[in-house]
Amino acid sequence: MSLEGFQDKPLNASERAERPSLNYQLSSTQQDGGSIVLEMKNISKSFPGVKACDNVSFSLRHGEVHTLLGENGAGKTTLMNILFGIYRQDSGDVYLDGRHVNITSPHAALKHGIGMVQQHFTLVPSFTVAENIVLGLRETNLFVQTSKVEERIAELSDRYGLRVDPKARAWTLSVGEKQRAEILKILYTGAKILILDEPTAVLVPQETRTLFEALGKMKEAGTSIIFISHKLEEVMQISDRITVLRQGSVVDTVDKSATTKTKLARLMVGKDVLIDVQRETVEPGRALLEVRDLKARDDRGLISVNGISLEVHAGEVLGIAGVEGNGQRELAETIYGMRMPESGSILLDGNDITGASISKRVGLGLAFVPQDRKGMAISPNLSVEENLFSKNYATQTVRCHALFLNKRDISRVSKDLIASFSIATPSEKTKTKYLSGGNIQKVVLARELSSEPKVIIAAQPTRGLDVGAMEFVYRTLQQQKKKGAAILLLAGDLDELFRLSDRVAVIYSGRIVGYTPSDPSYREKIGLMMSGAASEGDER
Ligand SMILES: Nc1ncnc2c1ncn2[C@@H]1O[C@H](COP(=O)(O)OP(=O)(O)O)[C@@H](O)[C@H]1O
Ligand SMILES: [Mg+2]
Repeated sequence: MSLEGFQDKPLNASERAERPSLNYQLSSTQQDGGSIVLEMKNISKSFPGVKACDNVSFSLRHGEVHTLLGENGAGKTTLMNILFGIYRQDSGDVYLDGRHVNITSPHAALKHGIGMVQQHFTLVPSFTVAENIVLGLRETNLFVQTSKVEERIAELSDRYGLRVDPKARAWTLSVGEKQRAEILKILYTGAKILILDEPTAVLVPQETRTLFEALGKMKEAGTSIIFISHKLEEVMQISDRITVLRQGSVVDTVDKSATTKTKLARLMVGKDVLIDVQRETVEPGRALLEVRDLKARDDRGLISVNGISLEVHAGEVLGIAGVEGNGQRELAETIYGMRMPESGSILLDGNDITGASISKRVGLGLAFVPQDRKGMAISPNLSVEENLFSKNYATQTVRCHALFLNKRDISRVSKDLIASFSIATPSEKTKTKYLSGGNIQKVVLARELSSEPKVIIAAQPTRGLDVGAMEFVYRTLQQQKKKGAAILLLAGDLDELFRLSDRVAVIYSGRIVGYTPSDPSYREKIGLMMSGAASEGDER
């Protein structure tokens, strides 16, 4: 049965009927484990056009890690934003230690002992860690001694193994350090409930392990933790209980000890998940993409691609592993021609395209799936059909593979693409801006992957997609590879890289610091390289 039995209200018949497959019994020890510190009851919240949370009930016990698991868009962040006072629910109630509460702001949430580390960090860059923490204590007296604060941070930092220098300015911190500072900021307030929204998305494997060790210690100290993730592996590692959300509704709450990855995946997606795309190796052909000693600057004018050379051959996927912000974005944009290099050269099937226009590159067979699809890859006010047939990268509109098609053909091909990429849109004439994020991504993918490019640059091609669409992307990329395309795949997710790549290159601080075979047994090594620890020829 569902653990919602812990609520005072028993399940009604229809609720039971929705969960026929999870009819296991809880042992009494499980039922007794820890008192309930938080209950959210029948929470609903709508945004224009979408019910982000639909009658969600959720409870948290003293000293447990309770995971919210769900695909992108399932409503996890919204539910927690309600708990943290960022949004107000349309209906439903929140109880802390059995008492009804109205949480109207993050500040109020902190006063109630609830802290949240959001996906986008909120530290003030020019302040030190300690100053940021004082800033979080808005209503304690303003004359807190920084040295005292630093001492106490060092103490907390020690106790939980959350290493960060209290005197360091926030902008100098690595992503992992920023996250630890955010957690310390919350622990400092004495919060009893800690919400972590996809904390591992930005971490390398070693940092994830450190984080999990810290969470273990917090649990022992009596903190209750709400952990958000869609990565099954780590969910099974860290959770005591797991609540699965799908399209705004709770599918079930299960005990970790009574479930498996396969069961969770099924709950999350609503059907059996068979991402079962086996990598097929084809004999690589000639080099279709050659990058030589490329240097490029980021938007702030700093060198972010710092002398990269690489080759991708026909029939090959070269995966680039790296923590975001190490030059991946600029590398991809420079190859595509959205960013001019400082020096170096780029060859596409032997043609020097270093200074060529985007349309020239596209004409020579270059395709690009950028990571910021909404901002760069589509024209929001044009229809889905128009976006399927023209590329608009902020500066340039490029018609693509539609030169010989008349209107009726375009309409037919659009409908085919919409069907095969399962793009949810009322029609091919709908303005693209009305589609959900995931569906906008599918429009870009459909356009880029349905032509016959020689070279494909895919930056985070499955980010934000549901499992079905993800599988489709994997298959499409694999097909392109078999047809002889050279694919440069940039992804933060190592599993995705291992699944698709033939070789893995690790990028750190604007350089390729090494290559490994595409095999999960290299995860640790890649993790070290990604964090700069195992780089060769690095001057730092
Ligand atoms: N501020 C907002 N305005 C409009 N729609 C939103 C907003 N925040 C979330 N949504 C929508 O609500 C749904 C749930 O989103 P979210 O809670 O972010 O999901 P998750 O965190 O599980 O990925 C999505 O369809 C999303 O597009
Ligand atoms: Mg979210």
